Amino acid sequence: MDTLCVPAQAQTLAQASELLRQGQVVAFPTETVYGLGANALDEAAVRAIFAAKERPADNPLIVHVAERSQLKGLCEVTEAAEKLMDAFWPGPLTMLLKKTEKIPAVTTAGLPSVAVRCPNHPVALALLKACGLPIAAPSANRSGRPSPTTARHVYEDMTGRIPLILDGGPCRVGVESTVADLTGPVPCVLRPGAVTAEDIAAIVGDCTVAESVMRPLKEGEAAPSPGMRHRHYAPKAKMTVYIGGDRAVARAICTRYDEAENAVILTHTSAMPLYGDRRVFDLGDTPEEGAHLLFQRLREMDEKGCELILAQGWKAEGKALAVMNRMARAAAFDLVQV
Ligand code: TXA
Ligand code: MG
Repeated sequence: MDTLCVPAQAQTLAQASELLRQGQVVAFPTETVYGLGANALDEAAVRAIFAAKERPADNPLIVHVAERSQLKGLCEVTEAAEKLMDAFWPGPLTMLLKKTEKIPAVTTAGLPSVAVRCPNHPVALALLKACGLPIAAPSANRSGRPSPTTARHVYEDMTGRIPLILDGGPCRVGVESTVADLTGPVPCVLRPGAVTAEDIAAIVGDCTVAESVMRPLKEGEAAPSPGMRHRHYAPKAKMTVYIGGDRAVARAICTRYDEAENAVILTHTSAMPLYGDRRVFDLGDTPEEGAHLLFQRLREMDEKGCELILAQGWKAEGKALAVMNRMARAAAFDLVQV
């Protein structure tokens, strides 16, 4: 199959919408990462997403809508969910709600809940409106690769596998949406994103964070969200993440770097001068900048054939939890506090 990668504009949006209506898979930008979309109500179309991504069938997909009214008949929207939609939609908050029979089991990997989200991106919203369908869309990477934040990343992973990629430029947020389970009495964040547990609690009074967000699953432990079971965001290189003050982190990283072969450093912009002429990549200064840059940097470092990534992280809390959850997984939880 030939894969076209085209700028998103009126004509290509119409083409993408037509492909979606025919049950095909199309990649499109959202504010978080690029998505690999197909009709969420069409079993064969959803299976084609799993095939293109080589995604295990036990990992459910997020259903994207242009507006709340599209959820009618698809899931039970609770009062808390309504309030959170008022506050954060369109935006990077995915909610797990009880599903109805209209959503095929393949889409939710047989689970009784469905993940729903309204993305805040003009191209995603225009496409969702044009096709008028609820669109199941995981991140548009091949399974086990970092999520794509540019159309080029999607092309690298999906060429020959899907007919069309809509290019809408780089994604603003850079890490995937917050996934919050709203099926229990208190909302629980299963995957941290740009909407924090604190943001959610401010609207509905309370919100917990799944404990496994910052640690590996134990042998035989059930994952709160199936996606957490699978190896994620894994660069080819081995990676260690250091947390602490710039100088202490730089001392620890430089010692390790100087003993290693083919190592690279991924650090905060302000700390870069501490590393002299060593090979350094820029992760920005704030956790938001880090989130925006992380997946792109992981791909770049892999392309350069680096074998060891020595990265500076942030304390895993508040707004930094999203980027640290991804950094910790990329490093197989090799975290060092200095
Ligand atoms: O920002 C995003 O969320 C992007 C863009 C494209 O919208 N999508 C995305 O999808 O990251 P994906 O499939 O890569 O991640 C979805 C996560 C997975 O960890 C999956 O296990 C979890 O959401 N999930 C989906 N449905 C679920 C359900 N019913 N119960 C528990 N977890 C669910
Ligand atoms: Mg993904």
